[in-house]
Amino acid sequence: MEVKTIGIVGAGQMGSGIAQVAAQVGGFNIILNDIAEEFVNRGLKTVTTNLERLVEKGRLTSEEKEAVLGRIKKSVALRDMEQADFIIEAATEREDLKINIFRELDKLCRPEIILASNTSSIPITRISAATNRPDKVIGMHFFNPVPVMRLVEVIKGLATSDETFQITFSLAEKMGKTPVRCNDFPGFVANRILVPMINEAIYALMEGVGEAKDIDEIMKLGANHPMGPLALADLIGLDTCLAIMEVLHKGFGDDKYRPCPLLRKYVDAGYLGRKTGRGFYEYK
Ligand code: 3HC
Repeated sequence: MEVKTIGIVGAGQMGSGIAQVAAQVGGFNIILNDIAEEFVNRGLKTVTTNLERLVEKGRLTSEEKEAVLGRIKKSVALRDMEQADFIIEAATEREDLKINIFRELDKLCRPEIILASNTSSIPITRISAATNRPDKVIGMHFFNPVPVMRLVEVIKGLATSDETFQITFSLAEKMGKTPVRCNDFPGFVANRILVPMINEAIYALMEGVGEAKDIDEIMKLGANHPMGPLALADLIGLDTCLAIMEVLHKGFGDDKYRPCPLLRKYVDAGYLGRKTGRGFYEYK
Protein backbone atom coordinates (compact mmCIF):
# COMPACT_ATOMS: atom_id res chain seq x y z
CA MET A 1 0.00 0.00 0.00
CA GLU A 2 1.33 3.43 -0.92
CA VAL A 3 1.61 5.89 1.97
CA LYS A 4 0.06 9.21 1.01
CA THR A 5 -1.30 10.53 4.29
CA ILE A 6 0.57 10.39 7.60
CA GLY A 7 -1.29 10.85 10.86
CA ILE A 8 0.77 12.47 13.61
CA VAL A 9 -0.49 12.22 17.17
CA GLY A 10 0.95 15.06 19.27
CA ALA A 11 1.73 18.53 17.92
CA GLY A 12 4.49 19.46 20.39
CA GLN A 13 8.08 20.19 19.41
CA MET A 14 8.67 16.66 18.06
CA GLY A 15 5.25 16.19 16.40
CA SER A 16 5.33 19.58 14.70
CA GLY A 17 8.91 19.00 13.51
CA ILE A 18 7.95 15.60 12.08
CA ALA A 19 4.91 17.18 10.39
CA GLN A 20 7.17 19.79 8.80
CA VAL A 21 9.72 17.37 7.32
CA ALA A 22 7.07 14.86 6.25
CA ALA A 23 5.08 17.58 4.41
CA GLN A 24 8.03 19.63 3.17
CA VAL A 25 10.64 17.03 2.23
CA GLY A 26 8.46 13.93 1.86
CA GLY A 27 5.52 15.68 0.17
CA PHE A 28 3.07 13.71 2.30
CA ASN A 29 -0.35 14.89 3.40
CA ILE A 30 -0.43 15.24 7.17
CA ILE A 31 -3.16 15.02 9.76
CA LEU A 32 -1.68 16.79 12.80
CA ASN A 33 -3.57 15.82 15.92
CA ASP A 34 -3.52 16.94 19.54
CA ILE A 35 -6.03 17.01 22.38
CA ALA A 36 -6.83 20.73 22.09
CA GLU A 37 -6.89 23.23 19.26
CA GLU A 38 -4.44 25.55 21.02
CA PHE A 39 -1.78 22.80 20.98
CA VAL A 40 -2.30 22.07 17.28
CA ASN A 41 -2.20 25.79 16.50
CA ARG A 42 1.03 26.19 18.47
CA GLY A 43 2.59 23.30 16.54
CA LEU A 44 1.48 24.78 13.22
CA LYS A 45 2.87 28.16 14.24
CA THR A 46 6.29 26.57 14.80
CA VAL A 47 6.12 24.95 11.35
CA THR A 48 5.06 28.27 9.78
CA THR A 49 7.92 30.17 11.48
CA ASN A 50 10.46 27.56 10.34
CA LEU A 51 9.17 27.69 6.76
CA GLU A 52 9.19 31.50 6.77
CA ARG A 53 12.83 31.40 7.83
CA LEU A 54 13.61 29.12 4.87
CA VAL A 55 11.81 31.57 2.55
CA GLU A 56 13.90 34.45 3.97
CA LYS A 57 17.06 32.42 3.33
CA GLY A 58 15.92 31.81 -0.27
CA ARG A 59 15.69 28.03 0.21
CA LEU A 60 11.93 27.85 -0.32
CA THR A 61 9.56 30.00 -2.36
CA SER A 62 6.45 31.54 -0.79
CA GLU A 63 4.35 29.30 -3.04
CA GLU A 64 6.20 26.21 -1.79
CA LYS A 65 5.68 27.35 1.80
CA GLU A 66 1.94 27.71 1.20
CA ALA A 67 1.82 24.33 -0.51
CA VAL A 68 3.54 22.65 2.48
CA LEU A 69 1.15 24.32 4.94
CA GLY A 70 -1.77 23.32 2.70
CA ARG A 71 -0.77 19.67 3.10
CA ILE A 72 -1.10 19.83 6.92
CA LYS A 73 -4.62 19.33 8.20
CA LYS A 74 -5.48 20.12 11.82
CA SER A 75 -7.23 17.56 14.04
CA VAL A 76 -8.41 17.41 17.64
CA ALA A 77 -10.21 14.06 17.35
CA LEU A 78 -8.15 10.87 17.36
CA ARG A 79 -10.88 9.39 15.13
CA ASP A 80 -9.44 11.45 12.22
CA MET A 81 -6.53 8.98 12.21
CA GLU A 82 -8.87 6.56 10.42
CA GLN A 83 -7.96 8.41 7.21
CA ALA A 84 -4.19 7.99 7.58
CA ASP A 85 -2.02 5.39 5.80
CA PHE A 86 0.73 5.49 8.44
CA ILE A 87 0.70 6.79 12.01
CA ILE A 88 3.49 8.42 13.97
CA GLU A 89 2.70 8.94 17.64
CA ALA A 90 4.65 11.78 19.25
CA ALA A 91 2.70 12.39 22.45
CA THR A 92 4.14 13.21 25.87
CA GLU A 93 6.70 10.71 27.11
CA ARG A 94 4.42 8.86 29.56
CA GLU A 95 3.90 5.14 29.25
CA ASP A 96 0.25 5.04 30.38
CA LEU A 97 -0.64 7.79 27.93
CA LYS A 98 1.11 6.14 24.99
CA ILE A 99 -0.39 2.72 25.75
CA ASN A 100 -3.89 4.27 25.79
CA ILE A 101 -3.26 6.06 22.50
CA PHE A 102 -2.06 2.83 20.87
CA ARG A 103 -5.11 0.93 22.17
CA GLU A 104 -7.36 3.57 20.61
CA LEU A 105 -5.39 3.74 17.34
CA ASP A 106 -5.56 -0.05 17.08
CA LYS A 107 -9.37 0.16 17.20
CA LEU A 108 -9.60 3.11 14.79
CA CYS A 109 -7.04 2.36 12.09
CA ARG A 110 -7.36 -0.21 9.31
CA PRO A 111 -5.62 -3.50 10.26
CA GLU A 112 -2.85 -3.07 7.67
CA ILE A 113 -1.80 0.38 8.99
CA ILE A 114 1.59 0.67 10.71
CA LEU A 115 1.60 2.42 14.08
CA ALA A 116 5.00 3.99 14.79
CA SER A 117 6.02 5.62 18.06
CA ASN A 118 8.50 8.45 18.43
CA THR A 119 9.05 7.36 22.04
CA SER A 120 12.48 8.31 23.31
CA SER A 121 12.86 5.31 25.59
CA ILE A 122 9.68 3.33 26.33
CA PRO A 123 9.97 -0.30 25.12
CA ILE A 124 8.35 -0.80 21.70
CA THR A 125 7.57 -4.41 22.63
CA ARG A 126 5.46 -3.20 25.57
CA ILE A 127 3.61 -0.61 23.49
CA SER A 128 2.97 -3.17 20.75
CA ALA A 129 1.54 -5.68 23.24
CA ALA A 130 -1.32 -3.22 23.89
CA THR A 131 -2.49 -3.72 20.29
CA ASN A 132 -3.78 -6.58 18.16
CA ARG A 133 -1.13 -5.85 15.54
CA PRO A 134 2.25 -6.13 17.34
CA ASP A 135 3.88 -7.01 14.01
CA LYS A 136 2.89 -3.53 12.73
CA VAL A 137 4.15 -1.52 15.71
CA ILE A 138 7.61 0.03 15.50
CA GLY A 139 9.80 2.76 16.96
CA MET A 140 10.58 5.75 14.73
CA HIS A 141 12.69 8.01 16.90
CA PHE A 142 13.45 11.50 15.60
CA PHE A 143 15.86 14.00 17.15
CA ASN A 144 15.43 17.58 18.19
CA PRO A 145 15.35 19.94 16.32
CA VAL A 146 13.70 17.58 13.84
CA PRO A 147 14.19 19.77 10.73
CA VAL A 148 17.95 19.86 11.39
CA MET A 149 18.89 16.47 12.84
CA ARG A 150 19.42 13.77 10.23
CA LEU A 151 19.06 10.65 12.37
CA VAL A 152 15.99 8.50 12.83
CA GLU A 153 16.45 5.41 15.02
CA VAL A 154 14.18 2.68 13.64
CA ILE A 155 13.48 0.27 16.48
CA LYS A 156 12.16 -3.24 16.02
CA GLY A 157 10.11 -4.62 18.88
CA LEU A 158 10.17 -8.36 19.53
CA ALA A 159 7.18 -8.95 17.22
CA THR A 160 7.79 -6.22 14.61
CA SER A 161 7.81 -7.76 11.13
CA ASP A 162 10.56 -7.24 8.56
CA GLU A 163 7.98 -5.72 6.21
CA THR A 164 7.00 -3.10 8.82
CA PHE A 165 10.68 -2.35 9.34
CA GLN A 166 11.36 -1.90 5.61
CA ILE A 167 8.33 0.37 5.06
CA THR A 168 9.26 2.55 8.04
CA PHE A 169 12.93 2.70 7.06
CA SER A 170 12.13 3.87 3.54
CA LEU A 171 9.53 6.36 4.82
CA ALA A 172 12.25 7.98 6.97
CA GLU A 173 14.46 8.18 3.88
CA LYS A 174 11.64 9.85 1.93
CA MET A 175 11.55 12.49 4.67
CA GLY A 176 15.22 13.20 3.96
CA LYS A 177 16.44 11.47 7.11
CA THR A 178 19.13 8.86 7.67
CA PRO A 179 17.46 5.92 9.40
CA VAL A 180 19.58 3.54 11.47
CA ARG A 181 18.35 0.24 12.82
CA CYS A 182 18.50 -0.68 16.48
CA ASN A 183 16.92 -3.16 18.83
CA ASP A 184 14.48 -2.71 21.65
CA PHE A 185 16.38 -2.05 24.88
CA PRO A 186 15.69 0.81 27.31
CA GLY A 187 16.72 4.13 25.75
CA PHE A 188 17.65 2.32 22.51
CA VAL A 189 21.13 3.61 21.50
CA ALA A 190 21.24 7.42 21.37
CA ASN A 191 19.41 8.28 24.58
CA ARG A 192 21.07 5.45 26.52
CA ILE A 193 24.38 7.15 25.90
CA LEU A 194 23.38 10.83 25.59
CA VAL A 195 20.99 11.31 28.51
CA PRO A 196 23.23 9.74 31.22
CA MET A 197 25.90 12.19 30.02
CA ILE A 198 23.46 15.05 30.55
CA ASN A 199 22.51 13.59 33.96
CA GLU A 200 26.22 13.47 34.89
CA ALA A 201 26.60 17.13 33.87
CA ILE A 202 23.73 17.96 36.26
CA TYR A 203 25.55 16.06 39.04
CA ALA A 204 28.65 18.14 38.25
CA LEU A 205 26.55 21.29 38.58
CA MET A 206 24.92 20.08 41.81
CA GLU A 207 28.28 19.18 43.34
CA GLY A 208 29.74 22.57 42.41
CA VAL A 209 32.35 21.18 40.04
CA GLY A 210 31.53 24.08 37.75
CA GLU A 211 28.92 26.67 36.90
CA ALA A 212 26.40 25.81 34.18
CA LYS A 213 28.03 27.95 31.49
CA ASP A 214 31.51 26.62 32.34
CA ILE A 215 30.40 22.96 32.29
CA ASP A 216 28.85 23.60 28.88
CA GLU A 217 31.86 25.50 27.57
CA ILE A 218 34.19 22.69 28.68
CA MET A 219 32.14 20.07 26.84
CA LYS A 220 31.82 22.24 23.73
CA LEU A 221 35.53 22.96 23.52
CA GLY A 222 36.80 19.72 25.02
CA ALA A 223 34.56 17.22 23.27
CA ASN A 224 33.58 19.25 20.20
CA HIS A 225 29.87 19.05 21.03
CA PRO A 226 27.73 21.60 19.17
CA MET A 227 26.17 22.68 22.45
CA GLY A 228 26.90 21.91 26.11
CA PRO A 229 24.95 19.16 27.94
CA LEU A 230 22.98 21.59 30.13
CA ALA A 231 21.93 23.74 27.16
CA LEU A 232 20.99 20.50 25.39
CA ALA A 233 18.89 19.43 28.39
CA ASP A 234 17.04 22.76 28.10
CA LEU A 235 16.48 22.09 24.40
CA ILE A 236 15.21 18.52 24.93
CA GLY A 237 13.10 19.47 27.98
CA LEU A 238 14.06 18.61 31.54
CA ASP A 239 10.85 16.60 32.04
CA THR A 240 11.76 14.44 29.04
CA CYS A 241 15.33 13.98 30.34
CA LEU A 242 13.96 12.89 33.72
CA ALA A 243 11.45 10.52 32.09
CA ILE A 244 14.25 8.91 30.06
CA MET A 245 16.50 8.49 33.12
CA GLU A 246 13.62 6.87 34.96
CA VAL A 247 13.02 4.43 32.12
CA LEU A 248 16.75 3.55 32.07
CA HIS A 249 16.88 3.22 35.86
CA LYS A 250 13.80 1.00 36.02
CA GLY A 251 14.50 -0.89 32.79
CA PHE A 252 18.07 -1.91 33.69
CA GLY A 253 17.58 -1.97 37.48
CA ASP A 254 21.02 -0.39 37.73
CA ASP A 255 21.74 2.58 40.00
CA LYS A 256 24.25 3.98 37.54
CA TYR A 257 21.17 5.42 35.80
CA ARG A 258 19.67 7.12 38.89
CA PRO A 259 18.29 10.56 37.99
CA CYS A 260 20.19 13.45 39.58
CA PRO A 261 18.16 14.99 42.46
CA LEU A 262 18.80 18.46 41.01
CA LEU A 263 17.14 17.40 37.74
CA ARG A 264 14.12 16.25 39.74
CA LYS A 265 14.05 19.52 41.67
CA TYR A 266 14.06 21.61 38.48
CA VAL A 267 11.22 19.53 37.05
CA ASP A 268 9.27 19.90 40.32
CA ALA A 269 9.74 23.66 40.06
CA GLY A 270 8.42 23.70 36.49
CA TYR A 271 11.81 24.74 35.11
CA LEU A 272 11.54 22.51 32.07
CA GLY A 273 13.95 24.32 29.75
CA ARG A 274 13.28 26.41 26.67
CA LYS A 275 9.63 25.50 26.46
CA THR A 276 8.89 27.14 29.82
CA GLY A 277 11.41 29.96 29.44
CA ARG A 278 13.61 28.63 32.21
CA GLY A 279 15.79 25.58 32.79
CA PHE A 280 19.49 25.71 33.50
CA TYR A 281 19.38 28.99 31.59
CA GLU A 282 16.72 31.68 31.16
CA TYR A 283 15.10 32.31 27.79
CA LYS A 284 13.34 35.48 26.81
N1 3HC B 1 14.09 24.34 14.08
C1 3HC B 1 14.49 24.42 12.79
N2 3HC B 1 15.74 24.79 12.43
C2 3HC B 1 16.59 25.10 13.43
C3 3HC B 1 16.24 25.05 14.78
C4 3HC B 1 14.91 24.65 15.09
N3 3HC B 1 14.48 24.55 16.35
N4 3HC B 1 17.30 25.40 15.53
C5 3HC B 1 18.30 25.68 14.66
N5 3HC B 1 17.88 25.50 13.40
C6 3HC B 1 18.66 25.68 12.17
C7 3HC B 1 19.02 27.13 11.93
O1 3HC B 1 17.99 27.78 11.22
C8 3HC B 1 20.30 27.01 11.13
O2 3HC B 1 19.98 26.70 9.78
P1 3HC B 1 21.00 27.06 8.57
O3 3HC B 1 22.38 26.62 8.96
O4 3HC B 1 20.45 26.27 7.44
O5 3HC B 1 20.91 28.53 8.38
C9 3HC B 1 20.97 25.76 11.71
O6 3HC B 1 19.92 25.01 12.34
C10 3HC B 1 22.03 26.11 12.72
O7 3HC B 1 21.42 26.91 13.74
P2 3HC B 1 22.13 28.10 14.50
O8 3HC B 1 23.18 28.70 13.61
O9 3HC B 1 21.09 29.00 15.06
O10 3HC B 1 22.80 27.45 15.78
P3 3HC B 1 23.82 26.26 15.90
O11 3HC B 1 24.79 26.21 14.78
O12 3HC B 1 24.32 26.37 17.27
O13 3HC B 1 22.91 24.94 15.79
C11 3HC B 1 21.68 23.23 16.80
C12 3HC B 1 21.84 24.73 16.64
C13 3HC B 1 21.33 22.60 15.46
C14 3HC B 1 20.56 23.01 17.80
C15 3HC B 1 23.06 22.63 17.31
O14 3HC B 1 23.45 23.34 18.44
C16 3HC B 1 22.98 21.17 17.62
O15 3HC B 1 23.09 20.31 16.74
N6 3HC B 1 22.82 20.85 18.91
C17 3HC B 1 22.71 19.47 19.37
C18 3HC B 1 21.34 18.94 19.13
C19 3HC B 1 21.18 17.53 19.63
O16 3HC B 1 22.07 16.90 20.15
N7 3HC B 1 19.96 17.01 19.46
C20 3HC B 1 19.60 15.71 19.92
C21 3HC B 1 18.85 15.84 21.21
S1 3HC B 1 18.36 14.26 21.83
C22 3HC B 1 16.86 14.01 21.16
O17 3HC B 1 16.28 14.84 20.51
C23 3HC B 1 16.25 12.70 21.43
C24 3HC B 1 15.04 12.84 22.29
O18 3HC B 1 14.42 11.58 22.40
C25 3HC B 1 15.33 13.36 23.66
